[in-house]
Amino acid sequence: MKIGFVQNEPRFGEVEHNLDRLSTLLANHSADLIVLPELFNTGYQFTTREEALKLAEPLSGGRTVEWLMEASRRTQAALVAGLAESSGGRVYNSAVLVRPEGVIGHYRKAHLFDTEKRVFDPGDLPLGVFDIGPARVGIMICFDWRFPETARTLALKGADIIAHPSNLVLKHCPDAMITRCLENRVFAITADRVGTEERVAGQPLRFIGQSQVVDPDGNVLHRASADQEEVKILSVDIRQAREKRINPNNDLFDDRREDLYIAR
Ligand code: ACM
Repeated sequence: MKIGFVQNEPRFGEVEHNLDRLSTLLANHSADLIVLPELFNTGYQFTTREEALKLAEPLSGGRTVEWLMEASRRTQAALVAGLAESSGGRVYNSAVLVRPEGVIGHYRKAHLFDTEKRVFDPGDLPLGVFDIGPARVGIMICFDWRFPETARTLALKGADIIAHPSNLVLKHCPDAMITRCLENRVFAITADRVGTEERVAGQPLRFIGQSQVVDPDGNVLHRASADQEEVKILSVDIRQAREKRINPNNDLFDDRREDLYIAR
């Protein structure tokens, strides 16, 4: 199975420019699954909820979903991508799983980071796992990495691969995702962006790049640079993620001690 990511550098608010750039980056690439960053079409640093509502799109008939359907057709890949979603007066930091025929998976970021709490409504959908044929794909977004229950829930629901659209600003995430993969014996594709936004004077955000693919043994199969756009596609054997035993006596799911764990 061929899986990968796009690492881009969007210009804030310039959706058409950003989609055109993605078309150029994806030209001549094909795969089974490609993950794009969080808010890949708009940029990240919304200053107000009104601004987010203005750039947000409905999933049905929205420009970006239409573009994703066409990009999926061209690349022959299922695409996971983050975008601001408008729905009934609400605005979510969402990710969609798209095929040529439309949206087949949908997630709204559960753990909003910092000032995102002033801009977005918190996610209100279950953590979802979606079957794309060669693999089952679970979706989480960026800061969800800091809550290990997110990846665990996706793995317990059957995810072979965690698709992780991101706009990372905290340096520990790429290494933490190795642990998420070891804990759950899943693949993870973190698709990040590069560049800086300073839409609030004195509050620059520098995005750390380093998009990566990690396997269920915790190997980083590829990690991108901190500052360059990149597309990376590689081949993996998804059967690795379906074996939760790490030796004849330990199974990562069967050995869990739910009798000792607490919800709070
Ligand atoms: C983040 O969750 N975009 C840092």
